[in-house]
Amino acid sequence: DIAVDPLEGTNLCATGQPDSISVIAIADDGQFLNAPDTYMDKIVVGSESRGAIDITRPAAWNLAAVAEAKRCNIEDLTVVILERDRHKQLIADVRQAGARIRLITDGDVAPAVAACKPDTGIDLLMGTGGAPEGVLAAAAVRCMGGDMQGQLKFRSREEALRAEKMGIKDADRIYALNELAQGHVMFAATGVTDGSLLDGVKRLKGGKMTTESVVMRASSGTVRWVKGEHHKAG
Ligand code: FBP
Repeated sequence: DIAVDPLEGTNLCATGQPDSISVIAIADDGQFLNAPDTYMDKIVVGSESRGAIDITRPAAWNLAAVAEAKRCNIEDLTVVILERDRHKQLIADVRQAGARIRLITDGDVAPAVAACKPDTGIDLLMGTGGAPEGVLAAAAVRCMGGDMQGQLKFRSREEALRAEKMGIKDADRIYALNELAQGHVMFAATGVTDGSLLDGVKRLKGGKMTTESVVMRASSGTVRWVKGEHHKAG
């Protein structure tokens, strides 16, 4: 299986905002959820909170569980949420619970990965974004030992029917991390614009360019951060 988004966060790239990345994930045949082009409600946490989350429970419940797992206060947690009208209630609930919120305009794959990396200041990703992006995120979360749950959210009856044709039998199913991405998963991403996860592409004098990528695989749990220098020949 190959899941790919050559430019995740198209608007971010076009407007020079952080966290636009180029991303690919691979696994053995049939190991990724064949996600229809619809939305997915997602919750993503790092390894310390593995097993603590439950997407069917209210935001405050999950924040309390993550705070307990991380041995901190809810006030110390930062949650990334896409700034969308559909998230008004979620944002209000997270604020009410006392956690910090980082609202993003686009691109929920990079913050999902960042939630699994200890030094990013991001503890959770919550809310509804693209379903294919959810599978990409799940591949990285698997490699990094974090946790994730997802539930497909259809925008129309047509989307639901298309999903049914693609083999989605239970539209309300909650997908655990291993049901989104299982087996020998590999994930790679390169920063396009600077972000919480990766530096973006830099063009230097003389045709030189620098990039930062991350390459990881679930079977060994190896995560490699790669700084690239690219010299144009001639
Ligand atoms: P693109 O890479 O297609 O621009 O998608 C960006 C993105 O922000 C995803 O990261 C996110 O999951 C989804 O779009 C959110 O969809 P919407 O903009 O419809 O809320």
